[in-house]
Amino acid sequence: LGLLSACGRGDASPTLVKPTDDIVGAVEKKRPSTGRERKFSLSAVESDLDIGGRSVRTWSLGDALPGEELRLTAGDTLNATLDNRLPEATSIHWHGLAVRNDMDGVPHVTQAAVPAGEQFTYRFTADTPGTYWFHPHVGTQLDRGLYAPLIVDDPREPLSYDEEWVVMLDDWLDGIDTTPDKVLAQARKGMGHDEGHGGGEGGSGPMRMGPMLMGASSDLLGGDAGDVFYPMHLVNGRPANDPHTFSAKPGTRLRIRLINAGGDTAYRVALGGHRMTITHTDGFPVEHREVDAVLLGMGERYDVLVTVKDGVFPLVALAEGKSATALALLRSGSGEAPGPDVRPDSLDGEIVNATDLVADASVRLDDRDPDVRHTIKLTGGMADYDWAINGRAFDRDAPTKNAFEIRQGQRVRVAFTNSTDMWHPLHLHGHTFQVGPDGPRKDTLIVLPGQSLECDFDSANPGRWLVHCHNVYHGEVGMMGLFAYT
Ligand code: C2O
Ligand code: CU
Repeated sequence: LGLLSACGRGDASPTLVKPTDDIVGAVEKKRPSTGRERKFSLSAVESDLDIGGRSVRTWSLGDALPGEELRLTAGDTLNATLDNRLPEATSIHWHGLAVRNDMDGVPHVTQAAVPAGEQFTYRFTADTPGTYWFHPHVGTQLDRGLYAPLIVDDPREPLSYDEEWVVMLDDWLDGIDTTPDKVLAQARKGMGHDEGHGGGEGGSGPMRMGPMLMGASSDLLGGDAGDVFYPMHLVNGRPANDPHTFSAKPGTRLRIRLINAGGDTAYRVALGGHRMTITHTDGFPVEHREVDAVLLGMGERYDVLVTVKDGVFPLVALAEGKSATALALLRSGSGEAPGPDVRPDSLDGEIVNATDLVADASVRLDDRDPDVRHTIKLTGGMADYDWAINGRAFDRDAPTKNAFEIRQGQRVRVAFTNSTDMWHPLHLHGHTFQVGPDGPRKDTLIVLPGQSLECDFDSANPGRWLVHCHNVYHGEVGMMGLFAYT
């Protein structure tokens, strides 16, 4: 009974508009049904993971960090049974995929959380190719290590490449307490710890976000435990002192799918000795752009192409404002492996963010006028840790208090307006929006302090859809709202 009331089955009231499988929002990229159903089982478990030679007790998907990748072909039906072997209720959210509303995995909004010891089957057609990922949508559970990649292959893939890697970045802290009331308590406790982190240097790239990137988990939970400095930064579950090594032959055309699964860190990523060509962000194609480095906020994805040179190269993810790095190695020839502190010059070269990119013509929205406009003003501050939308903190027992109403078939223009002095990665469920008149199609977008970004999407997926900051601590204390179809 306790669990049920804590999970508030109460407000999982049905949406006024029925969820549907026939989502036309992603029409430009939608692929026809393959008629195939792919079954997966996912266990959310308490596990002992080896992180850089330390054994760490945590929660993960099937005893691995990241959890095992799910890969389908666009048009396949995903049928995944979540077996909750955690001591708390949990759920799965399919980040970036426009699924039917009742499969979106948001307790209090689209489903009841799956109680400890129980199962729930997620079933939907994955008709849009791209780089996605999945994680629980309960408290800050994802920050314990409950995440994995979800790759939807395109049966009509227009890119040519020989091999691909999936690279998941994470800011790691041991022993995160994810119970919802602890989040706020930890946030409050963290307020006294600001000084130690206050002097962060700005990035040298166009973002210059350094001091803004101070976020909850490092301030709240950071410190050091023995000789391990927190947070650690991981590539595919491994820290810089024990890096994952990828191998490829020189000349290989490599597609790298970068995913930021961190709870509280933006990463600037470069591959030493190589320029990268950005081809996609958040699963959607963009006009190709060659760069030295890309910057990913929490929840964002970038796909890049590189042609592999001969040697041993570091793939480095610099944690913005924390001057620590995550590392993996690319071995395509002989040579000395670079050490954990390597910092390729390209990290300080030309860095690109979403607002510098242009949507590929195949996915660009037509220039119809908006039918409805909403302003999502990000409010709050570090001192009171009162992150909210339009001054209202999300109330999980009454989620519609922070609702923006839309109707099926509208062109919706939303102005994401940041009135705080920190940056926030804003994430919209169930849709992808276009940034500005011809920017990329995205589901997660960094909004800088003082910035206002107008984004358009077509309402074609009935239900109630969260929009929130993907800093899991900001989201949890209230920087969350929802779009509700009426
Ligand atoms: Cu990746 Cu609402 O989340
Ligand atoms: Cu935020």
